[in-house]
Amino acid sequence: MKNIVVVISGNGSNLQAIIDQCAAGKIDGQVLAVISNNADAYGLVRAEQADISTVVLDHKAYSDRDEYDHALAATIDIFQADLVVLAGFMRILSTGFVEHFAGRLLNIHPSLLPKYKGLHTHQRAIDANDEEHGCSVHFVTAELDGGPVILQARVPVFEEDTADTLAERVQEQERQIYPLVCNWFCTGRLKMENDHAYLDNQLIGPQGYA
Ligand code: GAR
Repeated sequence: MKNIVVVISGNGSNLQAIIDQCAAGKIDGQVLAVISNNADAYGLVRAEQADISTVVLDHKAYSDRDEYDHALAATIDIFQADLVVLAGFMRILSTGFVEHFAGRLLNIHPSLLPKYKGLHTHQRAIDANDEEHGCSVHFVTAELDGGPVILQARVPVFEEDTADTLAERVQEQERQIYPLVCNWFCTGRLKMENDHAYLDNQLIGPQGYA
């Protein structure tokens, strides 16, 4: 069973899905700790309800990104994480941090990468009149939202959608695909080599596993 550390900033609905799937035996791992840069993150309550250790590391208490990321990495290392799961962690990570956890650092991003890296992805999909939108789980590399995609889920965009209704539809899919990918990793099926993702030793294409 692998040791998982989840890093969050907010609501923690992805965290909840991962906690639930671990408890159900559908992820061969255990969430040992939840770390948040935001003391008010509801995800911390979810972690406490599941008897998981929580740590708040407020970025405002650090003088720069490198110092913060160093403290974050040191905290994660206390738990001997096999897998670090970014689940709505709303900070850009330094190259040093990403390299320290290379190959065991996952993120979920609310768009069909490589489309809409960065913020406000749902509104951008609506503004572009996209017919479909979605989410992507990827390994994290030094390029922001640019690491190899592992799995995507697609949803339709309806004319009457607002960013909130579209986000809700996308997040329902996030809660399906993120635990699945975590389990692929925990069972040794998923690897990153030379910035490419492999499932069962097969190279995963740019749109994720199909
Ligand atoms: C999710 O939609 C996730 O894709 C997004 O934040 C939300 C967190 O929800 N992540 C990013 O935008 C990362 N740049 P949650 O806290 O309920 O899991």
